[in-house]
Amino acid sequence: MKTKISSLLSVSIILIGLLASCEYEKIVPKVVTIPDTQVITYAEIQAVFTTQGCTACHGSSGGLSLAEDKSYNSLISKNLVNTEAPENSIILTKIAPGHYGKTYTPEQSALILAWIKRGAKKD
Ligand code: HEC
Repeated sequence: MKTKISSLLSVSIILIGLLASCEYEKIVPKVVTIPDTQVITYAEIQAVFTTQGCTACHGSSGGLSLAEDKSYNSLISKNLVNTEAPENSIILTKIAPGHYGKTYTPEQSALILAWIKRGAKKD
């Protein structure tokens, strides 16, 4: 009986030790800064939609088109970019929490945000 209790004790001490040594990594959102000097072309914005597979659902026909030849006009005509309050642009807010299994990388969101802040121009 005595050995049982002492082995139980040592097992619990080991467990407590293991738990205490665990380090929890805090999830800090990655902040990406785009330098003012970095040139952003519309081709880079288009590349985000293409590489993220947005065009699978937002192709050329009907509704929002993110296809290469239509995306810019679609973004502007559907008011998806807001140059007055760039952070509130639907093209960012809609995708930020995840959207049909798609999202942007922190770099891609920063790029789109910087592009909108600079007036959302098509080069
Ligand atoms: C699996 C299909 C699918 C994929 C992939 C997809 N979307 Fe969508 N998206 C939809 C549907 C359906 C709607 C309309 C319903 C809604 O608002 O959820 C929509 C709506 C939107 C809207 C709102 C349009 C408006 O006029 O208000 C935006 C912006 C958008 N998608 C952007 C994107 C972007 C950017 C990507 C890629 C990162 C993407 N979507 C990928 C299906 C998809």
